[in-house]
Amino acid sequence: MDGKKNILTKKVVIILVKFIILGPPGTGKGTLADGLSKRLRLKHISTGDLLRTEVKNASSLGKKIENVLSKGELVSDNLIKDLLKKNLPINDFILDGYPRTLEQATDLEKINEIDYVINLQSISEIIIKRLSARRICLNCKSVYGSNILPIVRGVCDKCGGSLIRRADDSPKTIENRLITYKKQTEPLINYYKEKIINIDGNNTPEIVLGITLKELNDRGIEARA
Ligand code: AP5
Ligand code: MG
Repeated sequence: MDGKKNILTKKVVIILVKFIILGPPGTGKGTLADGLSKRLRLKHISTGDLLRTEVKNASSLGKKIENVLSKGELVSDNLIKDLLKKNLPINDFILDGYPRTLEQATDLEKINEIDYVINLQSISEIIIKRLSARRICLNCKSVYGSNILPIVRGVCDKCGGSLIRRADDSPKTIENRLITYKKQTEPLINYYKEKIINIDGNNTPEIVLGITLKELNDRGIEARA
């Protein structure tokens, strides 16, 4: 009887969380989102990765946007809206690189309500160093940098694919991306002021992940074993 009671009264805790990670280019959004998605078992959606896949596959969308990405400008809000609709689950996700404009933020609000916005910040000197050192795997998209070097130079540890510099990691485009962020995306910090969690991104990835998990834990969101 007792056993049955336990089963009947056992609480099933289902955590449904929806995050955005905001932050300038190269501040470590992708790295943090990857760590959080593993520890909290959330889906990591990077609009930058989705767009680069379109470019790599030379799809009709990819051909349209290649030039925009290589200049460090933003793809149009309408194109991004369609792409996101196809890839956004109902719950348990981290959005990395979306929204990036006020219009995208209001579009998102119409389809899903976000719980928290992690605002990851770094100083420009660090950002420029990180982006200049970044290499990505052409095949599996793993990210390397001065913090994670591959065992064999130019070769991905995970799949043996070739490591390349991202097309938008040239000094000129990095500069444009920082300007674009300041003008079009930074106003979102104020837009989301009730939901913002500020995180100092100038530390090692392990420290940044630890601080973020602690902040989330304080809000009742625990890492899953
Ligand atoms: P996107 O791919 O999102 O690029 P981004 O915002 O410029 O940011 P990055 O991916 O360059 O940097 P990150 O913050 O993810 O840093 P990472 O973890 O890689 O977007 C690309 C383009 O797509 C945009 O410019 C735009 O054209 C278009 N686009 C995307 N979304 C759009 C939208 N919503 N609307 C319109 N257009 C859109 O880290 C960087 C490097 O540093 C790596 O080498 C990493 O290993 C290293 N690193 C990371 N963290 C640390 C750390 N804590 N310490 C030391 N090194 C670290
Ligand atoms: Mg990224």
